[in-house]
Amino acid sequence: MISESIGVNASGNLTVGGADCVELAKKFGTPLYVFDENLIRKTCRDFKASIDEYYNSNGQVLYASKAFSCKEMYRIVQSEGLGCDVVSGGELYTALAAGFDAKNIFFHGNNKTPDEIEYALHSGVGRIVVDNLTELETINRIAEQLKVKAEVVLRIKPGIDAHTHDYIRTGQIDSKFGFALENGEAFEAVNMALKFDFIELKGFHCHIASQVCETRPFKEAAEVMMKFMQDIREKYSVTLCELNLGGGFGVKYVETDEQLPFDLFMKETSEVLKKCASDLNYPVPKIFIEPGRSIVGPAGVTLYTVGNVKTIKDVRTYVSIDGGMGDNPRYALYQAEYTVEIANKASEPKNFIATVAGKCCESGDLIQENAPMQTPEVGDILAVLTTGAYNYSMASNYNRIARPMAVMVKDGDARIIVKRETYEDIIRNDI
Ligand code: LLP
Repeated sequence: MISESIGVNASGNLTVGGADCVELAKKFGTPLYVFDENLIRKTCRDFKASIDEYYNSNGQVLYASKAFSCKEMYRIVQSEGLGCDVVSGGELYTALAAGFDAKNIFFHGNNKTPDEIEYALHSGVGRIVVDNLTELETINRIAEQLKVKAEVVLRIKPGIDAHTHDYIRTGQIDSKFGFALENGEAFEAVNMALKFDFIELKGFHCHIASQVCETRPFKEAAEVMMKFMQDIREKYSVTLCELNLGGGFGVKYVETDEQLPFDLFMKETSEVLKKCASDLNYPVPKIFIEPGRSIVGPAGVTLYTVGNVKTIKDVRTYVSIDGGMGDNPRYALYQAEYTVEIANKASEPKNFIATVAGKCCESGDLIQENAPMQTPEVGDILAVLTTGAYNYSMASNYNRIARPMAVMVKDGDARIIVKRETYEDIIRNDI
């Protein structure tokens, strides 16, 4: 199986974290997001342990909460000793409402509004990750009004190419995020940050891409960033000792994907960082990483009910489910690959090929094309695996379809963590 959360029980049904998917669907209805708490916790611990082992505990893991943001998720990651990154007032609000310690929150975004900046400073977030010069000025102005010193890091584009989908690459010069190195923007930003009275520059951030399945780009980024920090030291006589390498660790969606072992990432990246530090006679910086997908993606499964099976002779078979791009837009957006199982036939061979179609009034509303699966029939429970990240968090109400419920499974028992939306929720803000 592609995730350690997944299994097949004696009844031949698919299980997630030990819970029978068919029973879950019966009890909670479909579509249903199911998460395995034990795997989420284990991954948090693995990331932390790798920093402790290879980097002498000189670092912090921040959960990139854009992958899956809800109160219970913030509670879980905080209880595992992680900080988090948020990219909007809404994510910040959710984290704080869950009792997240503000000083362990990093606030991101390429167009933070003045209101969001004020909210972040007022809440006492640990760091603001600054994207552009306008934002830097705004932070300084609002910090002055609030009589606080804003602790910031600057987001740098290290100019590294990672092999992933174009829409989820961010480290190259034409990305909308951060300051470029090649054209001097990054130096200008440092210069400005050092002059502002209400800004305290702590270090730098970079994030190359998401769903990266090799260590090379991370190591290259680490090297580029260390050299940049040395250049800054020479030019401005400041030694900045925080380096955030972002997230982006790839996970397994289909059997042919190769998941990057987190351990290997930290081992190899820390070797590069320590060597650069020693060559440059620079202190080894405190490292931050921001995994999102890898913490929650493999721990999630979405369950649907098959409503009809439509075979177009000599063309293809559509299996229509009671959800679709509203709860998982990733195939429509990125042609993302997924593994599909018929949960009530999980022990049978996957000798049927079909296209999983959603219920939106849109031809592109597909979850997967030509996917191998067990023979589908009306009423079956269809499971899409590795949907913990960027599914619920990217869900919409297109066609006024209510968003699904999310349940968290622990040791075989499930509890609701996000209620199912109702028709009443759908019209809540209509006048
Ligand atoms: N840090 C920063 C600054 C980021 O921009 C991101 C992701 C992360 C951390 C977390 O990356 P992760 O570990 O989750 O790969 N919606 C897309 C992914 C967008 C990622 C955006 N930034 C998808 O569904 O594939």
